[in-house]
Amino acid sequence: MANVFDVAVVGATGAVGQVMLEILEERDFPVRNMYPLASPRSAGKTVQFKGRTITIEDLTEFDFSQVQIGLFSAGGDISKDYAPKAAEAGCVVVDNTSYFRQAEGVPLVIPEVNGHRIADYTNRGIIANPNCSTIQMLVALKPLHDFATIERINVATYQAVSGSGNAAVSELADQSARLLNGQPIEEPTVYPKQIAFNVLPHIDDFMDNGYTKEEMKMVWETGKILENENVLVNPTTARVPVFYGHSEALHIETSTKVTAAKARELFDAAAGTSVMDTREPGGYATAAIEGATTDDVFVSRIREDLTADNGLDFWVVSDNVRKGAALNTIQIAERLAADYLS
Ligand code: A2P
Repeated sequence: MANVFDVAVVGATGAVGQVMLEILEERDFPVRNMYPLASPRSAGKTVQFKGRTITIEDLTEFDFSQVQIGLFSAGGDISKDYAPKAAEAGCVVVDNTSYFRQAEGVPLVIPEVNGHRIADYTNRGIIANPNCSTIQMLVALKPLHDFATIERINVATYQAVSGSGNAAVSELADQSARLLNGQPIEEPTVYPKQIAFNVLPHIDDFMDNGYTKEEMKMVWETGKILENENVLVNPTTARVPVFYGHSEALHIETSTKVTAAKARELFDAAAGTSVMDTREPGGYATAAIEGATTDDVFVSRIREDLTADNGLDFWVVSDNVRKGAALNTIQIAERLAADYLS
């Protein structure tokens, strides 16, 4: 079997796809031929990969039998149509969209949490990458959950605009520039209200129960990934005027008491987490500084809940485009390549 791979990146011009190409190069993923794919609008343009200029191809024309691995990040509708076609052609798809996350037989994987599930790629040829907010939350919670089962999670998120793609990054930049220059903003196109200098308590569609789909993704995905539907999740997700890096305030309750000192020890020893918590001004992680262009999930402000015996509070920051999307996808692909396809 191969130990170098032909790889397609679907959505190669997008906020996540561009970073996928960077990370594949940075981590020296064993790529033989790289195929960047996007819409007909981008076909014929080029990207740089490992010092070479590669032409972007039109997804609709691409023959997936040429590749063994496909990394998808072009939206749920594209994955819905093309991931099964790619899998049918023998390509294993690692899908960054939400389309297959709850699908029967499709593993939903964070390598540090449930990497063993990658083996289930054989069911449908598709592995799903979780939601960005779920990934950083569960990377942080996994060592605690292994020590003292988590019973309840209260979480509030503060999410960067890059999670909505490049158009949202431009919308925040443009609105900020206009407002700082004393000009009125244009009618927003990505968000329903001004995002610059504002906070929107709304991410993704509203559901019948009053929660948003982003909030329900955190509920649904946590049960599937931890393989435990008894872990209660009570989320509020908000969009903040930050370009890169999601922050989360977590309030959890465990089956037995975990002290702040013990929690710190567990976070310190875990894979993928980095504690930054000196209990002084600036001694904590923030999105724009630590949570952008880095790989770790940072844990700060670790303290015991004043109102619940087995409660712990902490602050979690991570790069939503890297660990929340592109990096996690590539870590899955690395394990897939090394353990199953080589
Ligand atoms: P394109 O740049 O050609 O539109 P973002 O998440 O930053 O909004 O990026 C979305 C990604 O999905 C881009 O790479 C975009 O390509 C790609 N994409 C959007 N629509 C399609 C489509 N119909 N077919 C293929 N790729 C698409």
